[in-house]
Amino acid sequence: MDNGRFVLDGALADEIRSGVMGDGFMKLVQSVRRNGKTFKIAMRPVEIGGLRKFQAEMTDDGQVQVKNFGADDASAGLEEIIAQKGARDLHLMTAKGDLHVRVTKKGHVLVSRSAAMERKVSVKPHDRVKNLPLTSFDSAALLRVTGLADGEGRIRASMRGKYDQVNEFLKVVKETVDAAKGGGTGPFTVVDCGCGKAYLTLSLYFYLTRTLGFKDVKVYGVDRRADVVASAREMAKRLDAEDRVVFAESDLADWKPGFERADMVISLHACDTATDEAIARGVEWKAKYILSALCCQHELQKRLAELGGRSEGPAADFGGLLRQSILRERLCDILTDSFRAMILRILGFRTQVIEFVSSEATARNILLKGEWGVKPGQPGPVSEYLNLRDYWKVTPWLETRLEKLLERHFSRFDESK
Ligand SMILES: C[S@@+](CC[C@H](N)C(=O)[O-])C[C@H]1O[C@@H](n2cnc3c(N)ncnc32)[C@H](O)[C@@H]1O
Repeated sequence: MDNGRFVLDGALADEIRSGVMGDGFMKLVQSVRRNGKTFKIAMRPVEIGGLRKFQAEMTDDGQVQVKNFGADDASAGLEEIIAQKGARDLHLMTAKGDLHVRVTKKGHVLVSRSAAMERKVSVKPHDRVKNLPLTSFDSAALLRVTGLADGEGRIRASMRGKYDQVNEFLKVVKETVDAAKGGGTGPFTVVDCGCGKAYLTLSLYFYLTRTLGFKDVKVYGVDRRADVVASAREMAKRLDAEDRVVFAESDLADWKPGFERADMVISLHACDTATDEAIARGVEWKAKYILSALCCQHELQKRLAELGGRSEGPAADFGGLLRQSILRERLCDILTDSFRAMILRILGFRTQVIEFVSSEATARNILLKGEWGVKPGQPGPVSEYLNLRDYWKVTPWLETRLEKLLERHFSRFDESK
């Protein structure tokens, strides 16, 4: 077929209309190239709350937007697709077969069809029904751009673990801000320390704004690796969020933010002492909430290994445990995390240690929640901390890092004895 005027003739337009609005509709994709850029729209059927709807994913020069429509709006959108001017490719997939339409730069309309088929069409319920944070809003673009999902919107098998971690972390965020009735209003600044590939950083921004109703959110992701920061910036741009989700390539200890205080400081498996640095920076930025999925800490391990080689001190009580490297490592993790929680408590945070994902998903499944709001330096928590520290004859990295803040509580406690 060649009408030479860029326009699809009536019969062809009707074929597309009945293909999209009929029962056997699978997918419609139209790509338009203009001025060296590509604009693409993909429509597919979805089931939301038991109702048949249409999902449109629009990609404009790399920026992705996804919306769900009822039949009337989808039909109006389809008319715009059909009426599109200029060179383009259109691919319609239905249970009965494929239709390809190519409109050339000169306006020639070239049509080809596959052989007749009898494909089975199953419209999967939209993920929303599972009630996970990442499905509580239209997260298709986010999931695809971050690479958590493939081009068809399916969570990649290799990313399932990270997808689950992000969802569970977001649930903790919700519980935390709900409990504090902190949602919905005012500016809200978050820092993701050791953000890596920014799965959590970007997800948190969209979850806070789209699902929890926060109005003026700014999320910073900090990581010392140039490559992950560059790709995170690119993803924020593609999601049209680069003004609100800002990435810094820096060591956490050196980063100089443009704010005085942050509302929430988070970290998800920031390696080794980066977890401590994240907690320390949360304290210094006077964060109301510190949420840290903890990572192991190597320094204390060395110290416990030395202690295990002796016969006096903790080794007299725990020798059998300290000599076994696996048990020693586990003990070290428990001690490190206890010290972290106790230090936060001394500094005025209500603390809670929870398992945020199952231990089968990752062995690093402990999350420390700190919420500002108790009197700092109370004798009970100080005494508990000093007793444990002195028993093990160690100085936790976080104590050294926050020495100036802790020292005044320790000396006041000494004087009161
Ligand atoms: C295990 S990855 C976790 C990344 C991300 N939070 C996630 O869960 O997908 C740890 C990240 O922390 C970063 N990191 C480690 N130490 C850091 C430091 N001192 N300053 C900034 N980033 C650091 C690493 O570059 C790495 O990207």
